Amino acid sequence: MVKKPWAGRFKEEIHKFFEDFSESISFDQRLSSYEIKASLSYAKALKEAKVLTEKEYKLIKKGLSEIEKEIKNGKFIFRKEYEDIHMNIEEALYKKIGDVAYKLHTGRSRNEQVVTDVRLYLMDKVEELKKDLKSLMEAIVFKAERYYGVIMPGFTHLQHAQPVLFSHWIMAYYEMLKLHLERLKDYEKRLKICPIGSSAFAGNPFNIDREKIAKELGFTNVSKNSVFAISSRDFLIELVFILGIIMLDLSRLSEEIIIWATQEFGFIEIPDQFCTGSSIMPQKKNPDSAELIRGKAASVIGNLFQLMILIKALPLSYNRDLQEDKPPLFQALETTQSSLKMMTLLVKDLKLNEEKIKLHLDKGYLLATELADYLVTKGIPFRKAHHLTGQIILYAEKNGKKLEEITLKEFKDFSSLIEKDVYEWLTLENFFKRREIIGGTGYLTVKKRIEEAKSELERL
Ligand code: ARG
Repeated sequence: MVKKPWAGRFKEEIHKFFEDFSESISFDQRLSSYEIKASLSYAKALKEAKVLTEKEYKLIKKGLSEIEKEIKNGKFIFRKEYEDIHMNIEEALYKKIGDVAYKLHTGRSRNEQVVTDVRLYLMDKVEELKKDLKSLMEAIVFKAERYYGVIMPGFTHLQHAQPVLFSHWIMAYYEMLKLHLERLKDYEKRLKICPIGSSAFAGNPFNIDREKIAKELGFTNVSKNSVFAISSRDFLIELVFILGIIMLDLSRLSEEIIIWATQEFGFIEIPDQFCTGSSIMPQKKNPDSAELIRGKAASVIGNLFQLMILIKALPLSYNRDLQEDKPPLFQALETTQSSLKMMTLLVKDLKLNEEKIKLHLDKGYLLATELADYLVTKGIPFRKAHHLTGQIILYAEKNGKKLEEITLKEFKDFSSLIEKDVYEWLTLENFFKRREIIGGTGYLTVKKRIEEAKSELERL
């Protein structure tokens, strides 16, 4: 049994079961490089505040650098008996340099160390996430460009509604992801607040230069209240909320990919690489990659709720409950990053089945709205035009006709205002020409947005 750094006032040793129950090193070892980085800065500040001598500071610096190398090389042994990453590194330092190691803890607390480490860790993760989002956005723009000009039925209520360019439909996801990038950038303002100098919760009593430490570590601000700095976990919840909505969007795209790949739709072909077969039905090719992304969205949303429930009604400042913030945070990050990568691979390789998509365009009276709009140009109020068109559709359905197959004589039975020019309205060409409006699915508009997106991606 090892001696705990906090055991001075204890007569009994820790119960073995409780020791295992309370450890966090199995998951917070992910924070090791940030723990070392922050400790180096803090040691320097202690030297500048004359708490450590130059010689002591150098010894600490050398010891921490060695530990960092050992961790990188996989030589470092993390021990549950030292609870967490903070004490594991402190004890390793003690073994290397003796008593001076214990001077490093002067004026500081694990309560501030843990929030500092997590904030630093997330600063790097946010950079990675931005890259992951960008890769998916690039894949989407690439697909939109590759299949520019392919017309598919657009859906509402999963029913055929109006025609749309495939590029326009898929670029909707580009716009969603772009907002997530902006969200992450805005979030960074609240993430980059440095807690060092908060100590247990009341503030550091050794007059260290907080601003200087913060700057050195890449923070943009220092916290203005030490109780807040120790207690707040909003910065985790906010990030996992962003991850949650990223996953919601990925789950919607997954769902569309799954539907489009069915025999019933046949819009797309998912490459074999991203599908699996059935152990009994030899003919099966299942879209498991997309299904797994859809399923994993549930776990990230669960992580968000787990974090919110953890914080609900928790008194300030530090409570050990807060240790439980890390597993859902790490899980949410890992799941979202791997899902983004999976989706990027999937989108890059999706193949559109243009012939099959074309067959679907004949179903569902996609140009019915055009007929109603035509009637409007003849002076019929839209509501009435809508009703009239509905009756024409009913007639067409009953007689197994497409709209453009209805004769002028038949049209006239519904309204004498209908003339020969109605047939010009009942073409896809006309439909798309009438949608050249910012944000619409007109050919030129969509082309322009794809070009804009490409230059946006270079700047983002
Ligand atoms: N392992 C702890 C956590 O993750 C570090 C902070 C411990 N602080 C304390 N007062 N016991 O929250």
